[in-house]
Amino acid sequence: MKALVLSGGAGTRLRPITHTSAKQLVPVANKAVLFYGLESIAAAGITEVGVIVGDTADEIREAVGDGASFGLDVTYLPQARPLGLAHAVLIARDYLGDDDFVMYLGDNFIVGGITGLVDAFRHTRPDAQILLTRVPDPRAFGVAELNGCGQVVGLEEKPDHPKSDLALVGVYLFTPVIHEAVRAISPSRRGELEITHAIQHLIDTGADVRSTLVKGYWKDTGNVVDMLEVNRTVLESVERRIDGDVDGRSETIGRVVVEEGARVVNSRVVGPVVIGAGTEVRDSYVGPFTSIAENCRITDSELEFSIVLRDSSIHGVGRIENSLIGRHVEVTPAPVVPSAHRLVLGDHSKVQIHT
Ligand code: G1P
Repeated sequence: MKALVLSGGAGTRLRPITHTSAKQLVPVANKAVLFYGLESIAAAGITEVGVIVGDTADEIREAVGDGASFGLDVTYLPQARPLGLAHAVLIARDYLGDDDFVMYLGDNFIVGGITGLVDAFRHTRPDAQILLTRVPDPRAFGVAELNGCGQVVGLEEKPDHPKSDLALVGVYLFTPVIHEAVRAISPSRRGELEITHAIQHLIDTGADVRSTLVKGYWKDTGNVVDMLEVNRTVLESVERRIDGDVDGRSETIGRVVVEEGARVVNSRVVGPVVIGAGTEVRDSYVGPFTSIAENCRITDSELEFSIVLRDSSIHGVGRIENSLIGRHVEVTPAPVVPSAHRLVLGDHSKVQIHT
């Protein structure tokens, strides 16, 4: 069995904070979302991975390399334009050969990995297996309709009037029959060859398409609450590891990761917390469910249940909670007079101000 990992896309900037052009490199607990996918593929016993890349190919190649650090053998498959998920299967035809494969969208996050799903597929080997999850607004997803026996009877891509709240999760298991299906379909309204349509074609031609309902699914839809929540879920299972410097006046309690080259000075850190390489926390408190990425400076502040991306600084501002702070951000106290707020905010920023 092989894996086909989709890390293409047009390279548009994502809300709310990801200035990276590759959405697959959005960090969750200081690690790119794509890396969790690659780790779950390796954990499921798959080593041969084709990675579809587009505009952001250089960024992805730099991050993933030859895959050896994940125990994988990665082959890059360039997609000239983002023409759809089924198009990605089309161009991967030679690479995939006649093997079964798991198709994994690199910007999707499945809590708990895919080992159980892959094992079950290897055993039962239906023509295709899809994953579904309940979402509050299915219009942003492929949506499945099930009959009374739980069989998939219809799939629609981003419907205006969804027939259920069951969204297609971006992990699919296929036998080689999918190759005929992706050749049989035409581009959708958005001009893409949709994998949803290819799977519908399998259903229409009598193939055995099964579905599994999963919990613990996340993808960046620009929702800060969701991002803090997935960060919390992942931090809940980190192991304590202090590779950086913690001075004698500091205290680190519970599951705290201090990466090599990070410094904690005269501070109190209550896990679960991850502190990235090159970051300094000084005269501060960092509370549970906080991820601070690389090369940040936190001084004379309190931070809890928050995400801070790399190269940012927070200085002397009291307590910050439930916050998502992007890259190269500076948070400082305002001068006492005049009592006006001075703001330099990026696109789509959301700020709450005490009045
Ligand atoms: C794609 C699929 C959609 C699926 C989603 C999951 O949409 O077309 O059916 O629900 O991934 O991430 P896209 O994100 O490409 O718009």
